[in-house]
Amino acid sequence: MSKKLLLISFATILLFQCTSTPDRPSASEATEAVTMPQFDQSTWGARKFSMFIHWGLYSIPGGVWKGKQIEKGYSEQIQAHAAIPKDEYAALAKQFNPSKWDPDHIVQIAKQAGMQSIVFTAKHHDGFCLFASNETDFDVVDGTPFGRDVVKELADACARGGLKFGLYYSLIDWHHPAGSPISNSNSDPINPDLHAYNLAQVRELLTNYGPIDQLWFDMGAPTPEQSNDYRDLVKSLQPDCQISSRVWNQDGDFYVMGDNQYPEVSIDAPWQVPASMFDETWGYRSWQKRGDPLAKAAEKVHSLVRVAGSGGVYLLNIGPDGNGSVVPFEEKVLQEMGQWISYNGQAIFDTKATTFGVRTWGAVTAANESSKLYVTILEHPQDGKVSLYGLQNQIARAYPLADPSIELPISKQGKNVTFDITPMVFDSMGTTVMVVEIGGTADFYPLRTVIPKAETYTMDLKNAKSFKAYVGDKYQSITEVNNCLQWFLQSTKSGNYAIRLSYTNEEVGRNFTLKVGENTFPLTLEKSEPEEIPAPSGIAFGNFLLAEPIYEDASFSTIHGVLYNLAYSRPWGYDGSRTFVENPDWEQGKPFDLHLPDVGSQYIGFSMFSPTDQIMMSTITADDGVALWVGGRKLLESFAPAPERTYLVEIPLEQGNNQMMFKFYNSKGPSEVTIQHDVVAARYHKTAGNVNLQEGTIVPVEIRASSPFADLGFVNFMLEVVPVDNL
Ligand code: GLC
Repeated sequence: MSKKLLLISFATILLFQCTSTPDRPSASEATEAVTMPQFDQSTWGARKFSMFIHWGLYSIPGGVWKGKQIEKGYSEQIQAHAAIPKDEYAALAKQFNPSKWDPDHIVQIAKQAGMQSIVFTAKHHDGFCLFASNETDFDVVDGTPFGRDVVKELADACARGGLKFGLYYSLIDWHHPAGSPISNSNSDPINPDLHAYNLAQVRELLTNYGPIDQLWFDMGAPTPEQSNDYRDLVKSLQPDCQISSRVWNQDGDFYVMGDNQYPEVSIDAPWQVPASMFDETWGYRSWQKRGDPLAKAAEKVHSLVRVAGSGGVYLLNIGPDGNGSVVPFEEKVLQEMGQWISYNGQAIFDTKATTFGVRTWGAVTAANESSKLYVTILEHPQDGKVSLYGLQNQIARAYPLADPSIELPISKQGKNVTFDITPMVFDSMGTTVMVVEIGGTADFYPLRTVIPKAETYTMDLKNAKSFKAYVGDKYQSITEVNNCLQWFLQSTKSGNYAIRLSYTNEEVGRNFTLKVGENTFPLTLEKSEPEEIPAPSGIAFGNFLLAEPIYEDASFSTIHGVLYNLAYSRPWGYDGSRTFVENPDWEQGKPFDLHLPDVGSQYIGFSMFSPTDQIMMSTITADDGVALWVGGRKLLESFAPAPERTYLVEIPLEQGNNQMMFKFYNSKGPSEVTIQHDVVAARYHKTAGNVNLQEGTIVPVEIRASSPFADLGFVNFMLEVVPVDNL
């Protein structure tokens, strides 16, 4: 009997009404659920491909100081890496007279490349201002023979050329008397005088140069109040100006990935990848080995495709010469990319990411305005076939974007739709784009559904699809937060169901929105009648093992090096030379000093024997950051700058040995941790409301934090959908 399968749409993007089908998705076929971000991709995505420009005094030496190639660090930071005295560096201003500076030409290059906006370094860490500032003479107008306002000229050229214009602004300043001495991390506190100076300059930038599309703050470690001041000022002057997350403390509008970093998680917030032509530098480096521009263009086209396919925005940098000219290699790369875009731009612009996301072989985007999917293939499949598992729309036809007259054969097996792309030709960038015409909005079966046990659906962090955002109070502390959880219920019996929430003290006080199908419940978790969870019985600790403090991998975040599959039984680290060492001094429940440096992290591991499968409630007290994996599964990841905090974590122990692995991150101050494993704790319960489920339907369930950069903060949360009759 064929059952009507109804997939209910969440508000924004993708889920879908679908047709009659005999084969419902089954849990046994479930692999990884892939769902697309749900923030408004069309607004932020109007800058899908943009140009970053690093240009300033550092472009004059171009990576060479006193005849020596400076190989350490980025060339725009040559002042730090070549240890150039402040006055000597500042004297470069007297040489700044770029005869080849031609902003209209740069705008033309950007436009020909298909770019939609330009973001320019108004002030980098060296403190030199490429604009006319009343706050300093160390600027292009007062301090150089050139004497022209570069920011103004570029802003005007962008306006003439119809490109959006944004500005990079460094919060640290190596020239300002109140700027910190140059540090290794560039994440220095912002002295109040420097803060006032920065604010005054931000005001100038947002007042004198027309509409500023984005203000790309960078580096430093401002206090939450300071970050807030920057945000308030920007928004008061230009409410539409988008602020980069590197203003820190969750005051940005969009998240900037680490330099040349690509996400490994599904992000549900506006985000951007800043990319340089070569990872080693952003500013001009005369001695850079550049190689073949075609190969570089292909590399960058592939990155653009992957970023667009996962809902992000790609900001590709050029570093013009000190004389103002664009490096011919970089111009050629952009020309080649522009060529590719002139044929394939539809697959990138005016599209959004799909549930299908990005695969090793390529990416799938959906047109904003039409019923088309763009499948960009980046790797030649050996059998000439590409499959989209779970695509369930009626397909009108599939054809190469390059030649719509060719019909590509389509076959369907279960939920797998296979396209024979043998007739397609790969271009010189190693890509080929297939268009799939579908009826309506793209419609994918969820790959994993929740099946009821004794008519009750249980949803928790283990069976959720998690969406992430990144937050941090400086570059080294960036961490992932979980801002959205999603499940799909596969309803097997019609009826009225109660939605029950179960949580611990860890979740008390959290607020969020729960959606079950089309029902929305705004919720706050409060204490209710507690149900006691006893301490575990019969557990035994194995050796307590410490990994030495990690300096080169000091960061807490995933993007800067959470170690996957870390096990204390084998060596690890970049060179495989690190091992865990035993430390007999540790005692559970007692504070243990890790003696971590400021900005440093450390792993702690031990095994724990349990005679039975049982729940163990543990508390972990630490400041700054802590993560816990049990049996390789992450149960906790939290970055909360001091003061210290105690987390309550429910740990499902399995019979036998369980591998516990902690990561502690120290940002500043003491690095004491306390772990306690014999805790008696409580669970609370609450009913959110009732819903009606229809047999044979798939119902999306979603929990969303109050803002895109807020953490749901769930550790021990559970959601049950229970037949009302069973209560
Ligand atoms: C980092 C560097 C800086 C560069 C920027 C680009 O913040 O300090 O030199 O401008 O990344 O993303």
